[in-house]
Amino acid sequence: MYAALRDRGVDLVNDPDRHLQGMEFDRASPRLEGLTPTSVVVTDLADVESAAPVVGLPAFVKGAVLSRKHLGWRHCVATTIPELRERVAAVLRSPFHSRGRAIVRTLAPLRHHRVAATDVPIAREYRVFLHRGEPLAHGYYWPYFHDFVALSPAEEAEVLALARRAAARLDAPLLSLDIAQLESGAWIVIEPGVSQFSGLSFIAPRPLWRRLAERLALAPGS
Ligand SMILES: Nc1ncnc2c1ncn2[C@@H]1O[C@H](COP(=O)(O)OP(=O)(O)O)[C@@H](O)[C@H]1O
Ligand SMILES: [Mg+2]
Repeated sequence: MYAALRDRGVDLVNDPDRHLQGMEFDRASPRLEGLTPTSVVVTDLADVESAAPVVGLPAFVKGAVLSRKHLGWRHCVATTIPELRERVAAVLRSPFHSRGRAIVRTLAPLRHHRVAATDVPIAREYRVFLHRGEPLAHGYYWPYFHDFVALSPAEEAEVLALARRAAARLDAPLLSLDIAQLESGAWIVIEPGVSQFSGLSFIAPRPLWRRLAERLALAPGS
């Protein structure tokens, strides 16, 4: 499909390999070492026990593509080995979330709020869209208004600097990076994404698409 489109003069910004690097966490996580919590890929339940000491308990569990956060926080967190086995098994049963790979991660102490709509801790988390390493637009990630939403200029600079550092380690020209604040005040990468599948959250669509179009030189001056 990609080749057929290219032959017809339609050049996708992310080729299939680069798309997958943004989409499947285990393809990107080795490159993000040090910027994101320690992560172990588990494809077989027999490997759960050896993953636990690497990341520590409680651990965060997700699929290579998605977590099960829509079901509630307990589906994403394991405090014991049996819980870890259950969470990993559940993720592996869903190809939609895992494509055969569960990711077991160190649970980071994120600054967070609680809201009535979900038991998932609502982190101080921002999504940054970048094209070839340059931020296009960014905004608060969670769809709730509260005192976390605004960034000071110094914090904004920190978030964008981390997004640039992370993007420089990845190949996808067009991607999103989710960046969250630890209780210590430091910022970490939560996950990359590809913009076809990244929700806009608080990010205004028109400036984002205008900046991208300008960078692609498709709409000069508009
Ligand atoms: N290692 C972690 N430690 C603590 N919280 C995390 C960790 N990873 C993710 N989270 C929180 O859980 C949410 C969902 O995780 P994420 O990896 O983004 O899954 P999804 O692909 O479903 O969005 C994140 O937005 C973040 O707030
Ligand atoms: Mg996410």
